[in-house]
Amino acid sequence: MPEALDLLKTRRSVKPVEMSGPGPAAAEIDALLTIASRVPDHGKLTPWRFVVFEGDARLKAGDIIASAFKGKYPDATQDQLTFERARLSRAPLVVAVVSRAAPHVKIPEWEQVLSAGAAAMSLVLAAHALGYGANWITEWYAYDRGVLAALGVNDNERIAGFVHIGRPSGPPEDRPRPPLNEIATRFTRR
Ligand SMILES: Cc1cc2nc3c(=O)[nH]c(=O)nc-3n(C[C@H](O)[C@H](O)[C@H](O)COP(=O)(O)O)c2cc1C
Repeated sequence: MPEALDLLKTRRSVKPVEMSGPGPAAAEIDALLTIASRVPDHGKLTPWRFVVFEGDARLKAGDIIASAFKGKYPDATQDQLTFERARLSRAPLVVAVVSRAAPHVKIPEWEQVLSAGAAAMSLVLAAHALGYGANWITEWYAYDRGVLAALGVNDNERIAGFVHIGRPSGPPEDRPRPPLNEIATRFTRR
């Protein structure tokens, strides 16, 4: 089976806690983002952008997340705050895929949002193709406007996902997939 098909047929998400370093080098990150930006984009609007977190920047972002958590839950324990602070440090690299979808005279906003999803998925697949594990997650802070503002995500933007990328500790177990007859309707010629 060609390598690409094999990858597509076997890809599985890797939990961020099961990832370790070293993460992708600078040239690999550029390759990942270049691939992620090569997606269908009706109207060529580039309705997405990327925010890269690596090294200490992950903990700085974690401070923002932990402080927002404390604001929401003033009784949060130290353990909880430590966990929140480490959110973006579980994997060596986290890329936020930011949707910039906006009303447009011709291109439906929905299609712009879908393009951001495609960018996130291409990023996941590219990471796998480079031998890394990846996981497309959002978690609560993706929807917290205070956290997003502090991370430089504008009010008119939304998080499509925080894609975590790192070395998998082992091959992940597969999970059941939906049977084709439940998800595919076929109109075939007789
Ligand atoms: C937009 C989006 C957001 C997601 N957010 C989360 C999340 O916050 N937490 C989580 O455990 N999984 C989340 N997932 C699911 C994982 O990405 C992944 O699909 C799941 O772990 C199953 O793994 P698989 O890719 O091997 O099927 C999200 C998926 C999508 C498409």
